[in-house]
Amino acid sequence: MALTEGLQAYEKEKLLLPLPKERGWGSRHLYLFQHFWCPSTHFQGVINFQNHFKAKDSDVIVASFPKSGTTWLKALTFSIVNRKRFSCSDNHPLLTSNSHELVPFLDFIFHGDNIQHKLSYLSNITEPRVFGTHIQFPSLSNSIKESNCKILYICRNPFDAFVSSWTFFNKTKSGSLHELTIEEALEKYCKGIVGFGPTWEHMLGYWKESIATPNKVLFLKYEELKEDANFYVRRVAEFLDCPFTEEEESNGVIESIRNLCSFEKMKILEVNKSGTFDRNIEKKYLFRKGEIGDWVNYFSPAMTEKLSKAIEEKLGYKEILI
Ligand code: A3P
Repeated sequence: MALTEGLQAYEKEKLLLPLPKERGWGSRHLYLFQHFWCPSTHFQGVINFQNHFKAKDSDVIVASFPKSGTTWLKALTFSIVNRKRFSCSDNHPLLTSNSHELVPFLDFIFHGDNIQHKLSYLSNITEPRVFGTHIQFPSLSNSIKESNCKILYICRNPFDAFVSSWTFFNKTKSGSLHELTIEEALEKYCKGIVGFGPTWEHMLGYWKESIATPNKVLFLKYEELKEDANFYVRRVAEFLDCPFTEEEESNGVIESIRNLCSFEKMKILEVNKSGTFDRNIEKKYLFRKGEIGDWVNYFSPAMTEKLSKAIEEKLGYKEILI
């Protein structure tokens, strides 16, 4: 092991040791770091990202709690900001690359060593750069908060986000782990002990910021996006200071972007049906049903009461979910 790698491993251990630790849904531990439950696998990436990432004013950050529509919002954002470079034609990058490949997660980029190499890769990306993150707002790097870069946040009804996470976990878990029952999963979820959780803290952080600085953070809801994607494609473009021209509107550019990024289209693309991304996760599992309200098919009355109670107690600001 190179000397710098040894030092970094030592630093990581030194930082992790004093932190409260819980078992997550799988075998990995979660560490309570800066008030959120950070998966042990992401810790180094988060720290490196906080210490080294330099945001540019033109950057766009797609932030979300896992399973809230990240894949979709990444695709929409990439298509909107790059529409002059790539029209929604036969050779659009989204037809040959998954949106997570085009819009990488910041903490994932910074995982591992060789920071200089990562920084030079980042500085060579064509602007505007679009990145993803699951990190809670208070823990974003200062450079994101202080620069003029913009943040798009997507929030989803916790009932549906939970079912999406639980089904995803059981499909992608390592073979050696037992199938996680929905009751076991909900128990931890309601206590907030899930990667990047608690979910309510996550939503509240970005929601408060979207109210305090509406030109910096746009708070979107999965359900609203589903109901009127055209409206929100237009809204996102305006927020990112690249509104659609009348000519683009009349040429149907908004509809083309909506269709290109739709669940139905993305799910059947060869690039999304096979292969892996991130930590060897099969891409096909990113596209399940893409529906609103599917949770009713999984929840018993007792589970509904349990999660409703947790939301009521912890979220307080109910208008977030309305
Ligand atoms: P379901 O499991 O309820 O189907 P994330 O991208 O944050 O991991 O969120 C995954 C959820 O978004 C999954 O929900 C997935 O099916 C849905 N999804 C993926 N692509 C989508 C798209 N283009 N439009 C709408 N929903 C999408």
